[in-house]
Amino acid sequence: MSILRIDSSANTEDSITRALTDRIIAQLGDSDVVVRDLAQEPLPQITHTWAVARATPEADRAPEQAEALVESDKLVAEMMAADTIVIGAPMYNFSIPASLKAWIDLVARVGVTFRYTEAGPEGLVKGKRVILAVASGGVPAGAPVDFNTPYLKTVLGFMGMDDVTIISADALATDPEGTVASANKAIDALASTAKAA
Ligand SMILES: Cc1cc2nc3c(=O)[nH]c(=O)nc-3n(C[C@H](O)[C@H](O)[C@H](O)COP(=O)(O)O)c2cc1C
Repeated sequence: MSILRIDSSANTEDSITRALTDRIIAQLGDSDVVVRDLAQEPLPQITHTWAVARATPEADRAPEQAEALVESDKLVAEMMAADTIVIGAPMYNFSIPASLKAWIDLVARVGVTFRYTEAGPEGLVKGKRVILAVASGGVPAGAPVDFNTPYLKTVLGFMGMDDVTIISADALATDPEGTVASANKAIDALASTAKAA
């Protein structure tokens, strides 16, 4: 079993989402884990060249267009190779960290991770199990102003990933111990990757 672990908290010490992703990885059991730390190794923003290149058929791409897609292709391959994707996504300003949005912009690729058909859009990243570890100071997951979990579920679902479990520590400002304890309890109840397969 292979796991892609993505951390996006800018906080590299004492981060709640990183503690949750650590625990999730341990709970999933024996697996190959590829780690993508978006704070320690930030991804580039997409550019004009990138946007034109991804809409240009591979055979017609100029060398600089092919070059512009190298990192994006690598991230897509990394995602495709994983059976399970674990994403640490703290709430930043009601949404997700910009570092994680940069990853999404690079992996949401028309014709590669989703496509348009006569019946509408179709996600091409199928058969993955996704576990989101979210944390927030006071905005509960699922609240009307939570633009983190609904956004992630939407964009991952658009790419075909509809098996999404949310682990949430969402009352850190008011009940840090209680909210982390309940997130940990939910993690400990997750089936291991081997069992889920
Ligand atoms: C830049 C920034 C923006 C934040 N925005 C929100 C927010 O909009 N709503 C909220 O409830 N908490 C907010 N928080 C609190 C974080 O979600 C909380 O501290 C969480 O633990 C961060 O995850 P981490 O511990 O993995 O870094 C924000 C924190 C930071 C650093």
